[in-house]
Amino acid sequence: MRPGPLRVLVVCLGNICRSPTAEAVLRQRLRDAGLDGAVEVDSAGTGDWHVGMPPDARSQRHARTRGYDLSKLRGRQIGAADFDRFDLVLAMDDHNLADLQMLKPPGARAEVGLFAPSAVPDPYHGPAAGFEHVLDLIEAASAEWVARLELRMARRPVGGT
Ligand code: 4NP
Repeated sequence: MRPGPLRVLVVCLGNICRSPTAEAVLRQRLRDAGLDGAVEVDSAGTGDWHVGMPPDARSQRHARTRGYDLSKLRGRQIGAADFDRFDLVLAMDDHNLADLQMLKPPGARAEVGLFAPSAVPDPYHGPAAGFEHVLDLIEAASAEWVARLELRMARRPVGGT
């Protein structure tokens, strides 16, 4: 029996700026590495204000200049079931991380942690440079995750997760 895909959920507050950007960038990096069938990526927000909405127009515009298409993504809120459905649930900042640690049901299997070595700051109320900074941090962290996920998959027992 072959192990199923590793499942990764990236999470921010609104699911319209940082986490959809991370979803698109990490997916692209995995595709580039030939791992798109081996790792599934999704995104969600801890809040519910933007459920069903496309990513912020500024996030879409900045991402497009680097070749990432966010237009088909839609906001959704994380739920308890996500902590069993996903292997990794990765927060964009310490506030998101604290929320996830509270939301994770006891005994749920997901590992919860930060997406990047330091926080990816919320660009929503700031200038255009903030959206570029988000892309810089997410591109660097995604390259690291591809290497880490390759190692993780190599270590997985056949039939396990
Ligand atoms: P995100 O950014 O968490 O990166 O999607 C935000 C988007 C919207 C809001 C806050 C952060 N908001 O307060 O509506």
